[in-house]
Amino acid sequence: MASTSLHIPGSTVLVVDYGGQYTHLIARRIRELGVLALIEPYTRLNEIDLSKYSAIILSGSHRSVLSGDKLVEESAKRVLYETSVPVLGICFGHQLVARILGGMVKSGCSEYGRVLVRVIEHDYIFRNWGSEEYAWMSHSDCVSRLPLGSKILAVSENGYIAALKVVINNRPVYTVQFHPEVIHTPKGQVLLGNFVEIAGLERRWKREYYYNYILEEAEKYKSIEGCVLAAVSGGVDSTVAALVVKRVLGSRLIPVFVDHGLFREGESEEVVEMLKRIGLEPLVVRAQERFLSKLDGVRDCETRRRVIGEEFAHVFSEIMEREGARAIVQGTTYPDIVESGATGVADKIKTHHNVAGLPMWFREKYFIIEPLKYLYKDEVREIAKLLGLPKYFIQRHPFPGPGLAVRIIGEFSRRKLEICRKATAIVESVLKKHGVYNKAWQAFAVVGDDLWVGVKGDSRKLGYVVTVRIVESSDAMTADYAKIPYTILDEISSEITRSINEVTMVTYAVTTKPPSTIEPC
Ligand code: XMP
Repeated sequence: MASTSLHIPGSTVLVVDYGGQYTHLIARRIRELGVLALIEPYTRLNEIDLSKYSAIILSGSHRSVLSGDKLVEESAKRVLYETSVPVLGICFGHQLVARILGGMVKSGCSEYGRVLVRVIEHDYIFRNWGSEEYAWMSHSDCVSRLPLGSKILAVSENGYIAALKVVINNRPVYTVQFHPEVIHTPKGQVLLGNFVEIAGLERRWKREYYYNYILEEAEKYKSIEGCVLAAVSGGVDSTVAALVVKRVLGSRLIPVFVDHGLFREGESEEVVEMLKRIGLEPLVVRAQERFLSKLDGVRDCETRRRVIGEEFAHVFSEIMEREGARAIVQGTTYPDIVESGATGVADKIKTHHNVAGLPMWFREKYFIIEPLKYLYKDEVREIAKLLGLPKYFIQRHPFPGPGLAVRIIGEFSRRKLEICRKATAIVESVLKKHGVYNKAWQAFAVVGDDLWVGVKGDSRKLGYVVTVRIVESSDAMTADYAKIPYTILDEISSEITRSINEVTMVTYAVTTKPPSTIEPC
């Protein structure tokens, strides 16, 4: 959540955003500890009253501190020299503090994914940590010389400084090279809890405050004249967003389901049925050919995302003009914003179709209502529970707005789309049969252009390679591949090669996010 009227005096943490992919996750983890955390970009720091905050965290970044950006350095100097509350620097924040205090940072010392960290000084910040714990790293620079007066608290298995402490203005400044905010640092939340205690923060923040805040915010949409459209896809996000606004607008809200031809097998019929059952009977637009004909032959993924965004905008615009609507509700969540580079300071990873994917002309012409834009999927699922939505619905796997189009690598073709659709249905049905579908965050198949020589019915057959991706995650910002038993992978592989004639090889994707992303493009 960016700056809002929300503030808990004496117990609010400021998270300074340097553009890291996990900045929002840091704030969220602090809130999970019962303490309100608000994010501000470093570019705004000179306009902010820092005395309102009881602790400050400096985030990660996609950039290098070695670039010597003046504004970045000034913002950190302000935090270090003009405040006297405890500070925690994370990743880029760790390197930034070290550099400002006279230490040295060098490049070419990358660590990605799970790395063993050895605690060599059991300071309170490492209370309840063993002497060795795994932590999640994602960096290519590291601190190579200590700042004066600082103490090394931990080192990584690769010999890099993993944590530092220095006292300035009579308060501790801690820095860690790893990411305590991601669930793949198993003791990360313990460390953040220790930091909250070091800062003496009272745990007064409650998750329900969000629910009330979102409903309160929705009240302001009452003043919109006429009807409002809600783009619904059957996913938890768009459904919750539509329901929140419907509570205020009632029948003035028109849910619209656009079938772009990129859904999974049987999905569009299922979704329409389900939406009807929960009181969001949608206007259904069957626009498969409109979308698919524009995607045929398109190789570049970002172009595909833009083509889909543009087509969505045209379909919605036609309905809005017909119905006289000026506003549209979307289920945008925070990861969509941060990965689309729409926070202003983070790097763009992908153009998530419901954020940057919608063309500017559409954003300028209509008012876009995004009630969930500061929340993560699991926080949205909490709200779905509070709204009384059924469990099977809340547990649905996330599905990207551009659908199967982002699961085709290389040239888009209907043939590959069909293979992807059939193979995904097999992955899902085998996992459901073995009762493991609901344990995964997402499970699907991907098709590329690589061909593998196979032998089917005693003859040579050049066929497609299908890659199966099954991941575990809690917020989609980081993910690990699921350690599925070989017997289940065997069953998936045999079923795909048996029932889809054009496939001669099935592979399993075993790379974490980062460095991969969940969807291939
Ligand atoms: P990545 O591939 O970026 O995906 O690791 C993170 C999560 O976002 C979903 N995703 C999307 N969701 N519109 C969406 O609504 C999109 O354009 C989009 N692209 C990816 C993805 O399925 C995963 O859960």
